[in-house]
Amino acid sequence: MRRPVLLLLFLLLAPPAWPVEAPGARHDINVPFEDAEYEQWVGMFERPGREVYDRRHQIVEATGAWRGAVVADIGAGTGLFTRLFARVVGSEGRAYAVDISRGFVKNILRTTRAEGLSNVEGIVNTQTETLLPANSIDIAFVCDTYHHFEQPRPMLASIRRALRPGGMLVVVDFERIEGKSSVWVLEHVRVGKEEVIREIEAAGFRFTGQGDFLRENYFLKFMRTE
Ligand SMILES: C[S@@+](CC[C@H](N)C(=O)[O-])C[C@H]1O[C@@H](n2cnc3c(N)ncnc32)[C@H](O)[C@@H]1O
Repeated sequence: MRRPVLLLLFLLLAPPAWPVEAPGARHDINVPFEDAEYEQWVGMFERPGREVYDRRHQIVEATGAWRGAVVADIGAGTGLFTRLFARVVGSEGRAYAVDISRGFVKNILRTTRAEGLSNVEGIVNTQTETLLPANSIDIAFVCDTYHHFEQPRPMLASIRRALRPGGMLVVVDFERIEGKSSVWVLEHVRVGKEEVIREIEAAGFRFTGQGDFLRENYFLKFMRTE
């Protein structure tokens, strides 16, 4: 094949470059989680009226998690989804609760053990690393947390490393639409859905579909590309 044709093919097939201007979240939006008062956050995250709480069972079902799967709930918060995944994957599977907040992880382990869930493991991670073992998970689940990543690029690389071949990344986050979303969303959430898809595809994932059962949030699925 002639050189210009090869170059054209390369340009067409190469994954889009990471947008140079893409920074992460401001550190201050994560400060409230550092010395998190667990019960107070349970009241915030696990309350009727929060769309991802009201639709939590539909969300878990839409991930396609199965008995025996290994799921990592990244940015687990109070463990709302960790507990649901732990029940779905059962004793043959495992649910990792991954969070930068030591207090959240400690309390998730305390409450899940009290509920008799013995398949939950906790990881206190960093803003650049999930600290999950390589090639260990089937599903990485990131709910209301992608916009909290202060360094999305290394976090996505770390999630990719943790996924088994064919593994899936699910992202649920706030719709952010200029002129339509609330001032709080526009100020708190870094980018909208299209940009999130671009960033994740540039990090070695293929967008494979989305759910249409949420109004204030979107539900996106990606596969790890090889
Ligand atoms: C808004 S809460 C969402 C909690 C939970 N996913 C839910 O939807 O109920 C965001 C969580 O992400 C955590 N977080 C922020 N940056 C993170 C990172 N790089 N890796 C893991 N967790 C992170 C925070 O400590 C916090 O618990």
